[in-house]
Amino acid sequence: MDKKAARYERIYKQLSSLFERSSDPVARMSTIAAILHHKMEGFFWTGFYLLIDGELLVGPYQGPLACQVLEKDKGVCWAGIRQGKTLIVPDVHKFPDHIACDSRSNSEIVIPLFDENNRVWGVLDVDSEKVDAFSEIDRIGLEKIVSLLKD
Ligand code: SME
Repeated sequence: MDKKAARYERIYKQLSSLFERSSDPVARMSTIAAILHHKMEGFFWTGFYLLIDGELLVGPYQGPLACQVLEKDKGVCWAGIRQGKTLIVPDVHKFPDHIACDSRSNSEIVIPLFDENNRVWGVLDVDSEKVDAFSEIDRIGLEKIVSLLKD
């Protein structure tokens, strides 16, 4: 198995075991952000944006100060919400309307979160200072990890 994929697998197992203690979504999102941020190489900003009353508000995160609210229908997170699928952006400066909360970010991955009725309620967003930092391995690993928010 690829080294990065193996790391995601170990993190998934660790989170599954931690989540036996609580199903509270804030506890789980905070723990996901902390573990991913500190264990994955090159995760510069790691966190959640939550759809609340039609706005996309920052949730639990690790990394530099983030935008509190993302301007409606702009940027990668809103695109992930609208399209209902994971978006990998190799160079954020080429993404139309990209919202730069921190100019050091160069690439980004956004994973939409779905409830049991398949309605989207937020995203996991990870930024990297590296261009082209995210691949299918990240998509698969992170989609599996956020599935733990449903259990
Ligand atoms: N770049 C995101 C905004 C969130 S920050 O990266 C933390 C976007 O375009 O939606």
